[in-house]
Amino acid sequence: LALQKFYKTKNDLSIGLWKIEENELFFKEQLHLSEIEEQELSELSQRKQIEWLASRYLLHLTLGKEDRYSCIKDDHGKPYLLGLNQYISLSHSRDYVATIFGNKPCGIDIQYYIDKITMISKKFVTNTEWSFINMEQKIAYLHAIWSVKESVYKAYGKKGTSLLNDILVHPFELDNNYKAEIYATLDKDGFQKKYKCEHNVFEDFTIVYAFEV
Ligand SMILES: CC(C)(COP(=O)(O)OP(=O)(O)OC[C@H]1O[C@@H](n2cnc3c(N)ncnc32)[C@H](O)[C@@H]1OP(=O)(O)O)[C@@H](O)C(=O)NCCC(=O)NCCS
Repeated sequence: LALQKFYKTKNDLSIGLWKIEENELFFKEQLHLSEIEEQELSELSQRKQIEWLASRYLLHLTLGKEDRYSCIKDDHGKPYLLGLNQYISLSHSRDYVATIFGNKPCGIDIQYYIDKITMISKKFVTNTEWSFINMEQKIAYLHAIWSVKESVYKAYGKKGTSLLNDILVHPFELDNNYKAEIYATLDKDGFQKKYKCEHNVFEDFTIVYAFEV
């Protein structure tokens, strides 16, 4: 049986987490995709198709509505539900998919731990952020910062937002279970938005959700 988790956060957001063990056909039979969704799906590689399908299915399950709402993209690639006034976000990594929805702008990111994170860190970690990283847990801190920034990016949703220059993570500490409440500020084009994020680690994955405060 696939691991399936669904919970409401204390911030009134609903999160789903699913380990994919089903095949494409299973999801296709459940979903009844709209034409525009079929088109988007057909442009993806085989591996991406299953993640894409699983995330739409998980979102449908967690919404708990009898009818399924078509999940489509705006000009920036940000997903939304046609005909339902809810903010949504999706993420996939390896065999897992994660979804979030709620009444406020929100983003979710799930990420398998990768060794090369240190190598790519200059693309997303500022000097100020480096200064509060606990070097004994460098890999965990870098993944946390990365996922926080990706979640904030998704909550905001506009292309051309730089993880390095536009999203700044405030100092934080991971506890013994690698949990943390983390704040971040998006500072772009002369305005600021503040986000609160919840960070968790399970198996070798980090999972973060962010919402506008
Ligand atoms: C869009 C982006 C956030 C996706 O993240 P990812 O880790 O590659 O993949 P995830 O599985 O976590 O997320 C994919 C989902 O993001 C969502 N997404 C794409 N563009 C989005 C946007 N503009 N706003 C909100 N969500 C978006 C989609 O729903 C997508 O899932 P789908 O294809 O099934 O619909 C990422 O590719 C990106 O552009 N990041 C910022 C740019 C950057 O600097 N990246 C490199 C940092 S080292």
